[in-house]
Amino acid sequence: MKVAVIGAAGGIGQALALLLKNRLPAGSDLALYDIAPVTPGVAVDLSHIPTPVSIKGYSGEDPTPALEGADVVLISAGVARKPGMDRSDLFNVNAGIVRSLSERIADVCPKALIGIITNPVNTTVAIAAEVLKAKGVYDKNRLFGVTTLDIIRSETFVAELKGKDPSDVRVPVIGGHSGVTILPLLSQVEGVEFTEEEVAALTPRIQNAGTEVVEAKAGGGSATLSMGQAACRFGLALVRAAQGEQDVVECAYVEGDGKYARFFAQPVRLGKNGVEEILDHGPLSAFEQNALDSMLDTLRKDIQLGEEFVK
Ligand code: NAI
Repeated sequence: MKVAVIGAAGGIGQALALLLKNRLPAGSDLALYDIAPVTPGVAVDLSHIPTPVSIKGYSGEDPTPALEGADVVLISAGVARKPGMDRSDLFNVNAGIVRSLSERIADVCPKALIGIITNPVNTTVAIAAEVLKAKGVYDKNRLFGVTTLDIIRSETFVAELKGKDPSDVRVPVIGGHSGVTILPLLSQVEGVEFTEEEVAALTPRIQNAGTEVVEAKAGGGSATLSMGQAACRFGLALVRAAQGEQDVVECAYVEGDGKYARFFAQPVRLGKNGVEEILDHGPLSAFEQNALDSMLDTLRKDIQLGEEFVK
């Protein structure tokens, strides 16, 4: 398998590349690309780690060498939030970056599984979809918004609150990836009961956890290390499923049946060709149903913004 990390010299990209160098299956190729000139050096640095994963780094204007033959492309290229910004403030810069990278992917590796980390994910995934569609290569099963950070945060916070081992906690998170569109389904966490007060406090904490990091970093950026971990978990899930492992399930922001919105984060079973099956998110509590109903306008507008950007 060849995995390409795009935006690889950034905070997320470097953390993700380090984790993948250590955790990809033996014989994999890892390609790093970023416009920053340091990128080949990041790859040389990582190449000294003794794992059976080969690594090459590319910089400059053209991502083609990194994309050639890629089975999985993970994109974290773009600018990150500073205090006082929300994810939609990133749109002006990041929309253009995702558009031009998607054009190159369409030309160079149209069959790759694509994971978009670059914010605002609710919108950038729609941009990538429209670009791929215009190029005649769009396959909705191969395009993912990476929402895994919402999942790992939920698992961590639930484990902390309930005194559990976080590796035993599974929390589905549906909707989108910003503010109220992030909906952790706390009613479905196995073996744990929450009071109404706990749900009312924990849900916004998960929704605003990114801002917690942005404020703590005081102008130094947003989540990079936990996001690197989240993207590694999701990227490895894509790789394991592509290599034939059965029953690989993760939540991701994908184009499904359109019941709620064209793109929606939900549990999916992954296979050789990306999404194999969209799984039912299960019954919602009254609190969750209400949160779902009230987010849909925002989510649909975010999606429309991306669609219109490409037109
Ligand atoms: P960063 O600023 O540390 O790194 C971004 C990298 O992208 C830089 O190295 C820059 O040179 C590179 N870049 C810019 N334009 C490029 C292009 N056209 N081609 C290739 N590389 C390009 O930012 P960081 O912290 O790594 O965040 C990256 C993105 O990920 C941001 O948009 C941020 O909002 C988003 N993010 C997403 C999360 C999620 O849960 N999906 C969580 C946290 C951040």
